[in-house]
Amino acid sequence: MAKGKIKINTPPPPTPTAPQPSTKYSGVKHTIMIMSGKGGVGKSTFSVNLAVSLGKTRSVGIIDADINGPDDPMLLGVSKDKLHVENNRIIPLKTKFGVDLISMAFFLPDENTAVIWRGALRHKAIQQFLEDATWSGKDYVIIDFPPGTGDEALSVAQMIPEVEGVIIVVTPQELALLDAKKAINFAEQLHLKVLGIVENMSGFSCPHCGTVTDIFKTGGAETLAKELGIEFLGKIPIYPEIVQNADTGVPAVVASEDVRNIYEKVAEKVARIVEK
Ligand SMILES: Nc1ncnc2c1ncn2[C@@H]1O[C@H](COP(=O)(O)OP(=O)(O)OP(=O)(O)O)[C@@H](O)[C@H]1O
Ligand SMILES: [Mg+2]
Repeated sequence: MAKGKIKINTPPPPTPTAPQPSTKYSGVKHTIMIMSGKGGVGKSTFSVNLAVSLGKTRSVGIIDADINGPDDPMLLGVSKDKLHVENNRIIPLKTKFGVDLISMAFFLPDENTAVIWRGALRHKAIQQFLEDATWSGKDYVIIDFPPGTGDEALSVAQMIPEVEGVIIVVTPQELALLDAKKAINFAEQLHLKVLGIVENMSGFSCPHCGTVTDIFKTGGAETLAKELGIEFLGKIPIYPEIVQNADTGVPAVVASEDVRNIYEKVAEKVARIVEK
């Protein structure tokens, strides 16, 4: 066999417009997708805390589009709850933090059950979350995705052409920034607006001595945003209260004034961008 490079056949990029845009998802003013290139950078944490911040003055829902790893119910202290269906419509769960939520976790028998579904089934679940649940009347629906540029985000982008845009969550180290560019490229290919980039886990201020340590470096996301002409939404430092959120079920914006102040500024910026 002749020596040479192995060629991998790459399919053409997906068509930018949805083949079948949904007519059943309607009445939502602003639908925002929360994405990242890399896993574990804080998308779910960001989605929940942004939603609770916006939810103080607006009507906000969250769709947990991470079908295989749904974390949002735990972050909002409702992982033991179940959803109700009325007149064949799913009623998103009302949390005590002023936001409504729908998640695959509500349909599983317990927290340890693994969802082992191929893309087509995950697409179907997301379609039901969008179309069979009552979102009409919401000012914002925030959609929290699994990492990367997979089926879930593609499904939403194709079904909901009126999506306002994407917020990219990054951590400051090179690898995460490199992966973030792929998420930005995904948005561009699908003609989705990148509303902004947020730098999470950006430095740690020691509660004892006040010294700031840049554990994952800092500032990379702001530089990336400038380079690409995208809005920079702010830096969210590492806070122990944010880590505790998963154990307590109380979002850090409720538990910590410092975190609340930071998220309020980010939420104001997001609102300014999408409501102008
Ligand atoms: N600013 C922060 N300070 C401290 N811990 C944080 C911060 N942001 C996120 N975390 C923690 O990092 C971990 C990962 O966060 P999270 O689950 O929100 O990431 P994710 O991007 O949604 O992950 P996945 O890609 O698996 O969906 C969690 O334990 C969370 O508490
Ligand atoms: Mg997540």
